[in-house]
Amino acid sequence: MRYLSTATDPATTKISRIGLGTWQFGSREWGYGQSYAGQEAHAIVRRAVELGVTLFDTAEIYGFGRSERILGQAIGEDRESVFLATKIFPLLPVAPVVEQRAVASANRLGTRRLDLYQVHQANPLVKDGTIMRGMRALQRVGLVSEVGVSNYSLERWRAAEHALGSRVLSNQVRYSLVDRSPERDLLPFAESTGHVVIAYSPLAQGLLSGKYHRGSRPVNRVRASSPLYLPENLDRAGDLIATLRQVADAHSATPAQIALAWVIHSPAVVAIPGASSVQQLESNVAAASIDLTEDEYQALHAAATRFRPITGPAVLPRLIRARFS
Ligand SMILES: NC(=O)c1ccc[n+]([C@@H]2O[C@H](COP(=O)([O-])OP(=O)(O)OC[C@H]3O[C@@H](n4cnc5c(N)ncnc54)[C@H](OP(=O)(O)O)[C@@H]3O)[C@@H](O)[C@H]2O)c1
Repeated sequence: MRYLSTATDPATTKISRIGLGTWQFGSREWGYGQSYAGQEAHAIVRRAVELGVTLFDTAEIYGFGRSERILGQAIGEDRESVFLATKIFPLLPVAPVVEQRAVASANRLGTRRLDLYQVHQANPLVKDGTIMRGMRALQRVGLVSEVGVSNYSLERWRAAEHALGSRVLSNQVRYSLVDRSPERDLLPFAESTGHVVIAYSPLAQGLLSGKYHRGSRPVNRVRASSPLYLPENLDRAGDLIATLRQVADAHSATPAQIALAWVIHSPAVVAIPGASSVQQLESNVAAASIDLTEDEYQALHAAATRFRPITGPAVLPRLIRARFS
């Protein structure tokens, strides 16, 4: 495993470049069922810890608390060797509510300290000064070590930091070969200031593994409602998947591993892929050791630029048709 070289206090646990996302744990929308929530999820976490993964990401809304519970139980005795990140959904984000919700998350996780407490998304009506008052109090009493945000623009990330009065370490955003918008301003900001971009959906929810196509579409709710998984868009992704396969062959790797190696190319980025099996987790962890050449990186970049999925209003009727076909 490789770790971020800067970012956190040397006395705290280092952050692994590949972490584990746990939205899948106990969440109905992924549809992985009882044996996944009861057994596989536990085995995935145990294997991740064995392989040196330290960054584990969850949220109070994943499975309405089930993800936090499953993760906390699976980490168990290894609490001190991991970097635990969870998120608050900012409904009514006044300080006492923020404090009470952090305590509830910590209880579900079975911990007395949240290494990273993130605001799941910017509240469009309430400025960050309100929520950051709660965050400051949580840091003061030691329940929260680092504060982070998620799905924030650069402007709002900076505003949050100003409101907190100290570092807002990270911004968790969608970043992959099919969504490169963080490259516009979030990555340059993080790289030049020692902040961190946490890349979610780094495999575009499995699309970049190359296993899905028009004749084999995933059936769960998350992906059935995603425009990326429209048959037309799966066709359009063919060229990008072919480039991933080409680079993968040169490294005796898989397309998913190359997609992850590409995401963590910037030293300010860590990725938190989810996994439906221990085997996927092992494969994702191994991606941390792949070094892409500049030519490979550029070839992937070019293929990503050529990928033009159908978006906007044209998507809705197609989604409905795809759902009932
Ligand atoms: N902050 C936010 O708003 C936000 C939003 C979304 C996600 N997240 C976080 O980011 C994490 C990851 O994002 P995500 O789950 O949306 O997408 P992702 O990591 O891109 O995709 C995960 C899915 O890809 C497939 N997969 C994983 N590893 C694979 C491999 N090696 N080979 C082939 N297929 C593989 C699995 O699905 P199948 O096996 O079923 O194909 C898995 O469930 C989440 O768990 C969550 O913690 C945060």
